[in-house]
Amino acid sequence: MADWSATQYLKFEDERTRPPRDLIAQIPLARAERVIDLGCGPGNSTELLVARYPDAEVIGLDSSPDMLRQARERLPKCAFIQADLASWTPPERTNLLFANASFQWLPDHQAVLRRMLQALPPGGVLAVQMPDNMNEPALALMINVAGRGPWAGNPALAAAARAALPRPETYYDLLEPLCARLDIWHTIYNHVMGGPGAIVEWFKGSALRPYLSALDPSMCDDFLAVYLEAIKQHYRARHDGRVLLPFPRVFIVAMR
Ligand SMILES: C[S@@+](CC[C@H](N)C(=O)[O-])C[C@H]1O[C@@H](n2cnc3c(N)ncnc32)[C@H](O)[C@@H]1O
Repeated sequence: MADWSATQYLKFEDERTRPPRDLIAQIPLARAERVIDLGCGPGNSTELLVARYPDAEVIGLDSSPDMLRQARERLPKCAFIQADLASWTPPERTNLLFANASFQWLPDHQAVLRRMLQALPPGGVLAVQMPDNMNEPALALMINVAGRGPWAGNPALAAAARAALPRPETYYDLLEPLCARLDIWHTIYNHVMGGPGAIVEWFKGSALRPYLSALDPSMCDDFLAVYLEAIKQHYRARHDGRVLLPFPRVFIVAMR
């Protein structure tokens, strides 16, 4: 898949940085020695961790060169490492593993979550947020548009959709046996978007990436035009012409 674009992702920085703020607010650690931001992206979530734990060594980890370049520019005093979460193991003396909007991209994220939690010392915390939006129209319409039009039949497009997340009970059964304390909750944000086109721009920075990577480049604009028309049908303008993007997210704070 093509690399992430930090610039595209940060077009909605305020909205994208709200969930990590809400996640950090529930972490039951007054102090930390070492904090690692898993899937740190352009450093927006890492910056929040530095502010919350000013005395800790805060490290950002990501697999994307473009995201890491932006993160290093933003936080020159922090260490950033390029690694794949699927195979990476936390170093000793890590008190907090923080992952905002990254684990949903891992094919077997449940096994990786368990492995991360097992690597923490007693009292260590794994704090995770993932979009739980595969049943929202914006995501369902990607699958729908991929299945009609001149690109239909492209097997890479058919494989572009992420699997829906399991229910909270599944995370409870998976993680609780390893935990002294476990907190799971959902929040549905209603992001105010300038119009239907802004919804397309939002997802160009995230969930549309696998689709656009799978398409022949000459078809990307046509695909996006069909997707925009479909979005217009499902996200109606409010009284001021703007649209609301309901966005459910699941939060997990697990303490060893
Ligand atoms: C949606 S961004 C989240 C950025 C930031 N944490 C935030 O709060 O906005 C997801 C990040 O996860 C990273 N990522 C996805 N899969 C990964 C993997 N297997 N290993 C490491 N990083 C990964 C991506 O490169 C991307 O920067």
